[in-house]
Amino acid sequence: MNVADERTKSCWMEFPLPRRRALHGNMEADAVVIGSGIAGLSVAYELAARGRSVIVLDRGGIGSGMTARTTAHLASALDDFYSELIKSRDQSTARLLHESLAASIDRAEQICATEGFDCDFARLDGYLFLAPDTPREDLHSEFETCRGLGVAVVEQRGIPLGGMSNVPALRFARQARFHPLKYLAGLQEAILGRGGSLYANTCVTSVEELDGTVLVKTSEGHEVRARDAIVATNSPINDHVAVHTKQAPYRTYVVSGTIPHGSLADALYWDTLEAYHYVRLQPWSDRDDLIIVGGEDHKSGKADDGEERFGRLEQWARARIPQLKEITHRWSGQVLEPVDHCGFIGKNPGNDHVYMVSGDSGQGITNGIVGGMVIADLIATGANPWSEVYNPSRKVAGSLGEYLTENLGVAKNFAEYVTPGDIDSLEKLKPGEGGLYRKGLHKVAACRDANGVLHTRSASCTHMGCVVHWNSLEQCWDCPCHGSQFAPDGTALNGPAVTALADESKLAVEAG
Ligand SMILES: Cc1cc2nc3c(=O)[nH]c(=O)nc-3n(C[C@H](O)[C@H](O)[C@H](O)COP(=O)(O)OP(=O)(O)OC[C@H]3O[C@@H](n4cnc5c(N)ncnc54)[C@H](O)[C@@H]3O)c2cc1C
Ligand code: FES
Repeated sequence: MNVADERTKSCWMEFPLPRRRALHGNMEADAVVIGSGIAGLSVAYELAARGRSVIVLDRGGIGSGMTARTTAHLASALDDFYSELIKSRDQSTARLLHESLAASIDRAEQICATEGFDCDFARLDGYLFLAPDTPREDLHSEFETCRGLGVAVVEQRGIPLGGMSNVPALRFARQARFHPLKYLAGLQEAILGRGGSLYANTCVTSVEELDGTVLVKTSEGHEVRARDAIVATNSPINDHVAVHTKQAPYRTYVVSGTIPHGSLADALYWDTLEAYHYVRLQPWSDRDDLIIVGGEDHKSGKADDGEERFGRLEQWARARIPQLKEITHRWSGQVLEPVDHCGFIGKNPGNDHVYMVSGDSGQGITNGIVGGMVIADLIATGANPWSEVYNPSRKVAGSLGEYLTENLGVAKNFAEYVTPGDIDSLEKLKPGEGGLYRKGLHKVAACRDANGVLHTRSASCTHMGCVVHWNSLEQCWDCPCHGSQFAPDGTALNGPAVTALADESKLAVEAG
């Protein structure tokens, strides 16, 4: 199981990837990749293309993690702004980061062309436009910074969205979009075609570096030995502190609906709000395109009002896109925000043969494609020109303020163990409702699933013990600390947690 078992479904999930079987024995390969989203399959593809034998393992279906919930803007513009990145890192890092993002779009285009993928890849302009009540100077300063970095951008007035003929905006050239699951389907076939293997429904529980090799164990007791392992589980399952203290999880929301084909310029659109709106088109039928509108982000586990957020997104879209017809899909997902605005790609801190890709922010698709290029180079030659930008072992002292703020969030979460719960009677819980109650020194997570079955589990996240919060939209438990998610019955759906929330009856024994 993974996040595919949560309640909402994206427009991409109407194109499911072919099913693969689970691992049924022990195996060996040059490289074992854990996770089959954009990051895992990009790494596996690049390694297979360099002649390495590759095994991919995923605890859910292939390609059914956060990549199935994305909106797949392929942008070399930086959603957190290059001007902010220079404050937390430096000019040279910003230049290299831009180079890597632009190269990742080129790489996706090249792979689509050489492998013959039919995945709706298209080059487009991207418009960053001023949102009401946000400072105009920030937009201009981003323009000046981008020009200094050599980014292809122009400052202009007006964008194609309704009522915005005079809005200040930046137009970035050579951005792109694709259908993420059609792209992953192509990668999967290409990996298989080069002798790689992929196993679904295979949960990895440990990744251990031995003398010059790596041993990966699964929950079913099988083992894979390889020279190198790559943890591409979105939120790393093998790391407790080094990276998790440098990023924080946010939930983000999307609605999509039909508009007549050709009635809006095919482009990427983003506004300047902190929880910014992001908009793109997707070819859908002979008559209609889909317009896909995202935003309304909040720190994971800190709000449980998904329906209201969908309502606000639809209202925002209808005010600017009057040609919007019926809403077809509504979904949410989670992104991980690194405190210094760069993802984490490279050797897992403390290891020589274990690598990782994480820290996607709103640009995890390009981050994943960069991950493929960087890790394949590091494994094959030991070097890549962008490796220092993304080095998971880097210090983040430049962003100390934000870093501390995010970690205070973790401290605040632990304080929840002594607060009263938010439900007083299990009988009153209706199907789809959940909440916390206190039992001695413990918090219990109680919910009644859609079928009316009551589940009571320990509310203590099995990663590092933070208190989980009920998400009534997705019918799951979200951990605000590092992004784990759990099904109503406690099964782990999203990393870094691997094991289920503990049985509440066992808590009573320990507490007593
Ligand atoms: C709503 C939304 C909109 C977004 N929009 C954009 C956008 O426009 N542009 C952009 O660039 N990015 C965007 N992002 C971010 C981007 O989609 C993600 O960062 C990216 O898809 C993550 O890819 P991944 O491969 O790291 O993770 P995933 O796709 O989640 O893949 C990780 C895989 O690892 C598996 N796994 C986890 N634990 C284990 C385990 N223990 N054993 C085995 N397998 C395991 C999971 O089942 C999963 O399949 C968006 C994200 C969301 C949620
Ligand atoms: S995800 Fe780390 S404590 Fe829950």
